Amino acid sequence: YKKIGVLTSGGDSPGMNAALRAVVRTCNYYDINCYGIRMGYDGLINDHIVELGPRSVKNLINKGGTELKSARSEEFRTVEGRKKAAETIKKHGIEALVVIGGDGSFTGAMKLYEEQGVPFIGIPGTIDNDIFGTDYTVGYDTALNTVAEAIDKIRDTATSHNRVFFIEVMGRDAGFIALNTGIATGALDILIPEEKDSIEDLFQSFDNAKKKGKTSSIIVVAEGDKLGGVYDLAKFTKMKYPEFDVRVTVLGHIQRGGSPTVADRVLASRLGVAAVEGLIDGRCCVMAGMQSSKIVFTPIEEAIKKHNEIDKELIKVSNILSMQ
Ligand code: F6P
Repeated sequence: YKKIGVLTSGGDSPGMNAALRAVVRTCNYYDINCYGIRMGYDGLINDHIVELGPRSVKNLINKGGTELKSARSEEFRTVEGRKKAAETIKKHGIEALVVIGGDGSFTGAMKLYEEQGVPFIGIPGTIDNDIFGTDYTVGYDTALNTVAEAIDKIRDTATSHNRVFFIEVMGRDAGFIALNTGIATGALDILIPEEKDSIEDLFQSFDNAKKKGKTSSIIVVAEGDKLGGVYDLAKFTKMKYPEFDVRVTVLGHIQRGGSPTVADRVLASRLGVAAVEGLIDGRCCVMAGMQSSKIVFTPIEEAIKKHNEIDKELIKVSNILSMQ
């Protein structure tokens, strides 16, 4: 390849900039011109393209968000939109793409390949860690640490006032953020979509906590949990235990920001190099990921369709430690 394009798409995640930097510099290393596409697929449709040299990505490795900006493009979901995108690609002589994003972004890239023949490699960038084919997605570790720091702070005030807190964390349909931060912050209970908890299970946790003499508790709830959402859970808890002082915190988009952790920077750097080298080796329509510390390429359809299982051992750990 002589010209490769790179874009970030979907929800941003900390470490996307580190991945961008790695893609740009690896291209330069192999004498490939690298083009940054702004605003995700919208940038392809509207021709927002800038050539990026190795110096243009300086001071980026530690920066949150995405310098290229991101979008969830509606127009790219249409055949017409993808046709326009292909015209821009052709106009600039771009031969392949590196797509940094989540499953929606990969679905779009796959369609562009099928309809317009534009080869690509994906890099998993999302805080949710919900992509098959990699142990971790870029941004997940940073989000975990952001959430843990926030919950630690809530714990201070929860303890001071003997309160029960329901804390909603992100993750879309997945409970990885909730489960891991729940364990890390000593939550009394963790509610995730992958587990079929009932309100009675939650009440049992409260009964048990009362017996053990606990005076305050934190319940971490994944946003995708099916039990009814933090506000309803708080309401039902108050009805059952009128003596409880119940509060709700929805952490929201704070979870998507901030300087990436070392783990995310290293992961993003490795996957950026792997994606460009993968394209040079003639790979297409795969995602560069990391499994057991090794770089692996997973066919994009698998990355989109298959799901990472929740580790039952983690659920056991949470249960054993919180019921004492
Ligand atoms: O996929 C990342 C994520 O932050 C999810 O955890 C959340 O459900 C969603 O994006 C929020 O999307 P938006 O920023 O478009 O509101």
